Amino acid sequence: MENITYRGGENFNLRDVLINGRKRKLNERVALFGTFISEKVDKIESLYSRVVNSACDREVEIIDAMTNTPRKMLMFGSNNYLGLANHPYVKEKVKEAINRYGVGVGGPPLLNGYTSLHRELEEKLSALKSQEDTLLFSSGYNANVGLISGLVDKNDLVIHDEYSHASLCDGLKLARANSKSFKHNNIDELKNIITDTEVMGEKFICVEGVYSMDGDLAPLDEITQISNASNSILIVDDAHGTGVMGKHGRGTGEHFNVENLIDINMGTFSKAFGVVGGFISASKALISYLRFFARSYMFSASLPPTVISAVLAGLEVIQNEPERIEKLHKNTEYLSLLLSEIGIKINSQTPIISVIVPQRIDIRKAAYEFHQAGIFLNAIEYPAVPISKQRFRISLMADHRKEDLERLVECLFTIWHKNDNSYSTQNIIHTIPTI
Ligand SMILES: Cc1ncc(COP(=O)(O)O)c(C=O)c1O
Repeated sequence: MENITYRGGENFNLRDVLINGRKRKLNERVALFGTFISEKVDKIESLYSRVVNSACDREVEIIDAMTNTPRKMLMFGSNNYLGLANHPYVKEKVKEAINRYGVGVGGPPLLNGYTSLHRELEEKLSALKSQEDTLLFSSGYNANVGLISGLVDKNDLVIHDEYSHASLCDGLKLARANSKSFKHNNIDELKNIITDTEVMGEKFICVEGVYSMDGDLAPLDEITQISNASNSILIVDDAHGTGVMGKHGRGTGEHFNVENLIDINMGTFSKAFGVVGGFISASKALISYLRFFARSYMFSASLPPTVISAVLAGLEVIQNEPERIEKLHKNTEYLSLLLSEIGIKINSQTPIISVIVPQRIDIRKAAYEFHQAGIFLNAIEYPAVPISKQRFRISLMADHRKEDLERLVECLFTIWHKNDNSYSTQNIIHTIPTI
């Protein structure tokens, strides 16, 4: 087998592994990928799959792979935005659910896995999203795959943002759907596709409320007008907006005051609710249909009552402690301010803050230095994003304290300075556009 390189610099050839490698025979493909993984991921100083040995909070304990000892780190890599993953009330309700229902249901909902707790959650989520009914899935991924493959027919057209999540794209593949993507948040292109394309069936428009990589918002005020005027069916994946956006945490639709113009809402329990699972909220008729046509619902076991009770309790906390959402947004503002003071201009309205790494800085080295400094941060590397857009993706929590954010920015400043001779607060200003 030829020797393939995939390290940084001149020989950067990840394409050979991840794309061209797919065309090789199975044994070659597996061997090639094995070498790649051992070089890139399995190394002792690798920062992938860090072992977290505590509850997910602003501070976590990890087992450091480099020293094999426990150590505390400030957590900026979790989507536990509201701190619900370790909230005392949520934990209490989960214990109650275990005592009453045990830990699992042992089968799919249509046959044997549907408790009164599941129904209660469907009703509460329907109210949260101003919809008639809701369907619960074992993950957000399964919700999107089941929704698209269950709903879309070959005569339909799905028009979606180019930054759509993999689960939407996989749903499209499973449905063998006709689809067209438009440039990220490019409303003119969306309009052109709608007016220029003849469709025998339905037109679906699929966007995300909050985009997970840059933390920017879809302009739902404009998009709802377009879907309304063109009689298209609007699907909003609000994985990162539910619990976070809008005064009451109802999501990005609430933020733009257009909840009643969204036809189908998708959400997950793996972000603000701190557990796992997903849901689709829509009209009663559509949800009844999906109950029998979304195969990832029909042929997959129900979420355990523990998870359901965690989400129910989380909804109560969101309602009873509105200061959590406020604090989360204050943290976003404060971090943006601190970053602007060191020359990094971020304009985010969400707790996802992406800091692009200047190309002079080796992102892996910087990631290692953050780790050594006790900062748990996710590096998003090529090929997940283009080289010029490699970034650290900061996820904020309501529980972060001011001094946590100050420490993060101090570390960032030190690492940038150490690794980039030309770094000065004047010359690295970049802006991530948001609405
Ligand atoms: C926009 C979006 N949709 C769907 C999903 C899938 O959700 P889950 O991880 O709960 O399966 C994610 C998760 O990262 C996401 O960011």
